[in-house]
Amino acid sequence: MNSILIKNCNIINADNQFIGDIYIENGKISKIDSRLSLNADKIIDAKNKYVIPGGIDPHVHLNLPTNVGNSSDNFLTGSVAALRGGTTTLIDFVTPKKSQSIVEAYKLRVEEAKQAKTNIKLHVSPIEYTSTTEAEMTELVENYGVKSFKIYLAYKNTVGLNDDAIVKVLEIAKKLNVLVTAHCENGDLVEYMRNNFIKQGNTSPLYHKLSRPPEAEADAVNRMILYSKFIGTKIYIVHVSSRKSIDLIQQAQKQGVKIYAETCPHYLLLEDSVYEQDFQKSAKYVLSPPIRKIEDRVNLWYAIKKGIVHTVGTDHCPFNLKGQKDIGINDFTKIPNGAGSVEHRLELLYTYGFLKRIIDMKKFVEITSTNVAKIFGLDSKGIIKEGFDADIVVWNPDFEKTISVKNHYQNCDSNIFEGFKTKGIAEFVIINGKIAF
Ligand code: URP
Ligand code: ZN
Ligand code: ZN
Repeated sequence: MNSILIKNCNIINADNQFIGDIYIENGKISKIDSRLSLNADKIIDAKNKYVIPGGIDPHVHLNLPTNVGNSSDNFLTGSVAALRGGTTTLIDFVTPKKSQSIVEAYKLRVEEAKQAKTNIKLHVSPIEYTSTTEAEMTELVENYGVKSFKIYLAYKNTVGLNDDAIVKVLEIAKKLNVLVTAHCENGDLVEYMRNNFIKQGNTSPLYHKLSRPPEAEADAVNRMILYSKFIGTKIYIVHVSSRKSIDLIQQAQKQGVKIYAETCPHYLLLEDSVYEQDFQKSAKYVLSPPIRKIEDRVNLWYAIKKGIVHTVGTDHCPFNLKGQKDIGINDFTKIPNGAGSVEHRLELLYTYGFLKRIIDMKKFVEITSTNVAKIFGLDSKGIIKEGFDADIVVWNPDFEKTISVKNHYQNCDSNIFEGFKTKGIAEFVIINGKIAF
């Protein structure tokens, strides 16, 4: 099927909204007009539906290797779950092994990602600074089109960088005019707190939260701001979870620092009492930074409205309770960090953002698609416009369901949004001009 005509669309872009018909040919949006009478292989009537750009999730970890096995969604299962939820592009990561070339790791990850049914882009993580790092980062940008690097200020014994290495990576990225994304937590403090809690016999998931306070996040955010201010690199703070961090980011933006921010559905919708339950119920919320307090949650919504936070990514990194999370039954530090929501990002933001009148539909499109495309240089995505890629979602605003492991597409035996009621669903998902769902 090479052509699709979508009739009677209520088209929502981040900066405009209009009624019209969309003609798709050979993977592209070839024509938009108030009324189109063209032959097509498939005609969709979108009356009473929203038509929005395919979602772009800027932060997922499919098939992430850890010492309890890989995250439970691979490129196939995770991408199918993403499509089910209306997301047509995922940005995953290249995380090399110690002393592995980042170019080599990039090429291997590209091969692995061929399983995916969505479009895939990759951020690349230098996990150490060596004599070849500059040449390899340059090669990735110039020959492979890499647009962003990722650094970790936590997880020092696996992927985290020390500050001298961070400064060098930022300097190279500045020369290459690319973005550096950062996981911000003070890893040394977190490590000290974790070890101390375990020594004291405090082993439950509650101590995961207590060992990673908002101050540890804010300290790392503050350092990234400082480096960006004096080195001049554009930075993007991933999974911002707390008010303290938002205040710093807002202040920096006012001073002209080139800083973008992302948050995740779990920081917008859950609260830290989730850790005050027994292991079977609380282990699924062991993710970093941890779920914060209601006041943080309220502030994150405010930051989205004000444009301080630009994107909502899922940090999709699920692990099964049985055989993965439960390895930490007697020691929370052994529980693999992460949870999944790639399938639910759009329906949650629509239900709890738009329908609750916190954001409008344009903002919904901006944070789930358009801003991600702009920030990460996906030049032909994120807008419904002639000449752009035909990644389009026909959104049925009336469909109601309850999120559950019983009906989700994600490959995981638990769901952090279990029992959440949602309204609205991706009824048709078109990716590169083809109907996927
Ligand atoms: O807990 C999390 N977020 N796991 C995935 C890796 C990361 O830190 O983003
Ligand atoms: Zn992270
Ligand atoms: Zn992550």
